[in-house]
Amino acid sequence: MFKKSWEKLIVALDIASEKKIKEVVQALYPKVKKFKVGLIAYTFLGPKIIKWINNQGGEVFLDLKFFDIPNTMSEAAKLAMDMGVWAFTVHLRSGKDSLRFLKEQLVSEAENRGQHPPLIIGVTELTSKKVSLSKVMTLAKVAYESKLDGVVCSVWEARKIKKSFGLLTITPGIRKRKEDDQTRIATVKDALKEDVDYFVVGRPIIKEKDYLKAVKKLLEERRER
Ligand code: C5P
Repeated sequence: MFKKSWEKLIVALDIASEKKIKEVVQALYPKVKKFKVGLIAYTFLGPKIIKWINNQGGEVFLDLKFFDIPNTMSEAAKLAMDMGVWAFTVHLRSGKDSLRFLKEQLVSEAENRGQHPPLIIGVTELTSKKVSLSKVMTLAKVAYESKLDGVVCSVWEARKIKKSFGLLTITPGIRKRKEDDQTRIATVKDALKEDVDYFVVGRPIIKEKDYLKAVKKLLEERRER
């Protein structure tokens, strides 16, 4: 159980400091192998931080939530593949035309190059929002119909999405109680019980002094009401 939870953890490097990002990765790798580079780290540092994480042996989850016209989305996806990311996010509200085109283009480019494409992960409703399960399911269906690999959703939607669509589930909003902008929250224990594939945690780890200790504490936490 404990080993499985380390393997499922993706640490969100939402940090505008190259020095601190490197400290977090070096403190946690190789126990943690996956790191999320999102809007904050990518806007600040760009592709070089992805290259650095890959050189350390880590895998990158690029969370830029692409939301654009089909050509722009697919060209950006090819660049994400060039950077060697493990997976990247697209927004499901961009719709099936953009998403299907992106998938086709990425797969054919990967075939030409003789490599595997990165996983394409569709973002449903943000975990900071209070929304109904049916709204999340409607967007998850868009991911399924566009033949994406998985979705970002909350822990409490993951089981139904897996059962209905067989998609990978990646869940942020890991908290033992409501304490910040995250609303659809759950603990790591809940995430394991609900059989999510990966869970993403940022601030509860990166705001602490001892990152490794913070992960250990997080994996043991129970929900508070
Ligand atoms: O700091 P925290 O644990 O809330 O980090 C969660 C990460 O997951 C953030 O980087 C946030 O941008 C991202 N995310 C999210 N909800 C989504 C999609 C991504 O919280 N639906």
